Amino acid sequence: MGDVVKPRIVADELLVKYGRTTALDSFSAAIPEGISGLLGPNGAGKSTFIKSILGLIEPVSGKISVADSEDGLSRLARRELIGYMPEHRCLIEDMKGFELVSYMSRLSGLPREDAVERSHAALDFAGLDEERYREISSYSTGMRQRVKLAQCIVHDPEIMLLDEPTTGMDPDGKEEMLSLIKKIGGSEKTVLISSHILHEVEQVSDYVVIINEGRSIESGYMKDMMESEENRYKLKVRGQEKALEKFVKDLRKEWEVVRTEDEKDQLVVILAGLKSTKNIFQSVDRYDLQLRYMRPDVMTLEDFFLRSFSGGEDHGD
Ligand SMILES: Nc1ncnc2c1ncn2[C@@H]1O[C@H](COP(=O)(O)OP(=O)(O)OP(=O)(O)O)[C@@H](O)[C@H]1O
Ligand SMILES: [Mg+2]
Repeated sequence: MGDVVKPRIVADELLVKYGRTTALDSFSAAIPEGISGLLGPNGAGKSTFIKSILGLIEPVSGKISVADSEDGLSRLARRELIGYMPEHRCLIEDMKGFELVSYMSRLSGLPREDAVERSHAALDFAGLDEERYREISSYSTGMRQRVKLAQCIVHDPEIMLLDEPTTGMDPDGKEEMLSLIKKIGGSEKTVLISSHILHEVEQVSDYVVIINEGRSIESGYMKDMMESEENRYKLKVRGQEKALEKFVKDLRKEWEVVRTEDEKDQLVVILAGLKSTKNIFQSVDRYDLQLRYMRPDVMTLEDFFLRSFSGGEDHGD
């Protein structure tokens, strides 16, 4: 998918194990500036990769470098450089939101005189109002996610690692969290967001790494991925089942049938590599079908995801 411009995090052939379980297996990735999505199903190794970047997990073999320094970072330097929003509960329950964020800011190297002001600013940004003066034990999941985000950004780190930041939030909360992430992903920042939800990653990311079973199976700039498939068309056809089968078989001779989908009383076909549409009309006539829709189509990350998992074969039929 082409080279990464200015990689900020580079993993080279990481092998990470938990006892007998291999969590990362020859995992290589280069994360550029901007927002990158780490996309993969449960158990793929997303959190393990994030913890490896933080130095919380030692790989059995392989190398990881963060901001051009290989292993050379002290713990404090790492904390100053990286903000981390963990996946699970990690908050100190009997602290108030504000206390926790200012405490974390001090741990991340902020001087006392800045900590108060910066903590308020981070909480404002994350959208936590008066609740900041309440104990965390009384917080809803959404509020907890906001405090987690605030403590992650409070010291203005260059690199931010957000492990499933929308987990447990309602739809509005999710949308808001994603738009906050877009905002923090401004100039000169590197944000890595892990998720198993395609459209979330699609919505915010400039770059994406698809991970499965501990391996990086696809990576690249979203823009390149989406443009890599030219001349895509979406068709909706109606007719007898047998005729539709023959129709799709005919199409396959000329083009790549990306996928087919049954939709109520019609068949949806996504075609790629299309040069001329003439043969489509001929086949429609030949099999006595009704062509109800035909438009250029945009490739989504989902198509890419499906294709990655199938090793390039067609889907849905
Ligand atoms: N502490 C642990 N002890 C043993 N195995 C673990 C541990 N943590 C993770 N694993 C295993 O390592 C693999 C990768 O786990 P990881 O948590 O990195 O996946 P993930 O992509 O973050 O999944 P999820 O979407 O569920 O958060 C899985 O098989 C998991 O069961
Ligand atoms: Mg995880």
